[in-house]
Order: sequence, then structure tokens, then C-alpha cells
Amino acid sequence: MWIRSAGERDLTQIQSLLVETWHDTYDGLYGVEKVDAITADWHAVPKLKERLNRPQSEFVVADNGEAILGVAFASTKDGRAVHLHQLYVRPAAQGQGVGAALLAEIEDCFPEARLFRLEVEPENGKAVGFYQRSGFKEVGKTENCGTADSGVPALIFEKAIR
Ligand SMILES: CC(C)(COP(=O)(O)OP(=O)(O)OC[C@H]1O[C@@H](n2cnc3c(N)ncnc32)[C@H](O)[C@@H]1OP(=O)(O)O)[C@@H](O)C(=O)NCCC(=O)NCCS
Repeated sequence: MWIRSAGERDLTQIQSLLVETWHDTYDGLYGVEKVDAITADWHAVPKLKERLNRPQSEFVVADNGEAILGVAFASTKDGRAVHLHQLYVRPAAQGQGVGAALLAEIEDCFPEARLFRLEVEPENGKAVGFYQRSGFKEVGKTENCGTADSGVPALIFEKAIR
């Protein structure tokens, strides 16, 4: 497996990975219908495509030569504080180091960064455990994860580095 930048040819596979992983992770919390609605909006190929040329951002995938196993996307405004918007590993590939490899790559991609920040669903114990294990600490809460009116609650986690 290697970690590389996402390209246009990957977008359909990234979309299906996100839809599959979102249903696996959130159906039990939000219900299938809400997950369908969110994922149809946030993970549409044109939205994913906008990220490819976004300045001060990194969009990376874990690729084993046969399939994309995971995806991560992060961006910064000032180079110092980096927001990790997405880190998703296909259910069948979880627990095998893919998430850790993607997170390490994202951290390496922003050499000036002093702080990494992300939002995580409080009931998503798998992700909360992973981030705590990776050195993140809870610093606050939001009621609208992702977009201003999403109605999706989240904990805000941060990790200071360097
Ligand atoms: C959360 C997620 C990204 C973690 O990726 P992963 O590939 O499964 O995790 P890894 O195998 O790389 O684990 C890395 C380390 O975290 C630890 N870890 C993983 N899950 C953990 C958990 N629930 N609790 C505690 N530690 C955990 C592993 O034991 C490993 O530690 P080690 O280095 O000491 O062996 C992945 O499970 C996932 O995509 N989940 C569903 C989607 C999701 O919730 N994404 C985050 C949205 S904010």
C-alpha cells in the first residue's frame, strides 16, 4: 500500500468509498435516509473535484494497487493551523494501519503546521479512540459539523505538533 495524491481518475472510487464508509459508520446514529442525503451532497463527484486544485490543501488516498482503501483531505488558511476535513478508511480495511498512514502523510504535507484540528461525531467511538490514540485532545463542541446548518453535532479535537 502507498499513500499518494488523489487524481481526477480516482474520484468515482473515492465517492463510493465515502458512501460505503458513511453508511457503515453513521446509519446507526443518523438513519439511512439522513446519511443518503448528506453523502449525496457532500460526496458528489463535482464537489470532490473542486478539491483537486484547491490551494493550501492536501487530498490523499491509500492505494494497494487494486483499490483505494482510504482517503484524507486537509487544508489550511495560514499554514500554521490545519483542518483535517476527512479521514475515511473502507470498513474492510480498517484496523490495519491505513488511517495512521494517511494521518502521518497529512502531517508531513504541512511542514509549517503547528496545530491540527478536526471535528468528530461524539458517538463515533471508533474515530474518537483512534484520534485520542493519535495524540488529539477534545477542546470544544459544535452543533453544525461540516456546513453552517448541517445539524450534525461534533466534538472539536486538536493536536499541537512541532
Ligand atoms: C477512524 C479510522 C480513520 C481509523 O483508521 P484505521 O485504519 O481503522 O486505524 P489504524 O489501523 O491506522 O489504527 C492506528 C492506531 O489507532 C488505534 N486505534 C484504531 N481504532 C481505535 C479505537 N477505536 N480506539 C483506540 N485506538 C484505536 C490502533 O490500535 C492503532 O494503534 P497502534 O499504532 O498502537 O497499533 C477508521 O476506522 C475509519 O475510517 N472509521 C470510519 C470512518 C470515520 O469514523 N472516520 C473519521 C471521521 S471524523
